[in-house]
Amino acid sequence: MTRILILNGPNLNLLGKREPEIYGAESLEDINQRLSRFCAERGATADFLQSNHEGALIDAIQSVREQYDGAVLNAAGYTHTSVALADAVKACDKPVIEVHLSNIHAREAFRKTSYLSPVAAGVICGFGARGYFLAVDALIGIYQEKNAAKAAK
Ligand code: DQA
Repeated sequence: MTRILILNGPNLNLLGKREPEIYGAESLEDINQRLSRFCAERGATADFLQSNHEGALIDAIQSVREQYDGAVLNAAGYTHTSVALADAVKACDKPVIEVHLSNIHAREAFRKTSYLSPVAAGVICGFGARGYFLAVDALIGIYQEKNAAKAAK
């Protein structure tokens, strides 16, 4: 059973209402419901947190070390500013996949810098909500491969 934490940062509680031409028409609640089913069908469990507060996101990433097998992180605006969040990802010792709905490389110059990418297990951007599912699929695969390697020892 892969335990996954799905974390969303500032303003993503407004998904569906906020710039839908960039971020899509679906609410975060609807995406999370679909993710919950997607995980259950694959023998994984998902917990969800959205916060507009940097410290709450850092606390959540710190909890990954003991309580989860990996995390999906859309840190939104903090991606481009937060050394502290990057430090937390680096310290957590579990795969964290950075996700963005939009293609951050095709937008304003300040979005091209991510403090998270160098410490993330991987980065997915530009596929809308599908990115969260791709990330979950990757985390389940990483976990299964790790267990298979352990069993083969
Ligand atoms: C975002 C991209 C960020 O640059 C932006 O600040 C967001 C959302 C995305 O999902 O495309 O709030 O992370």
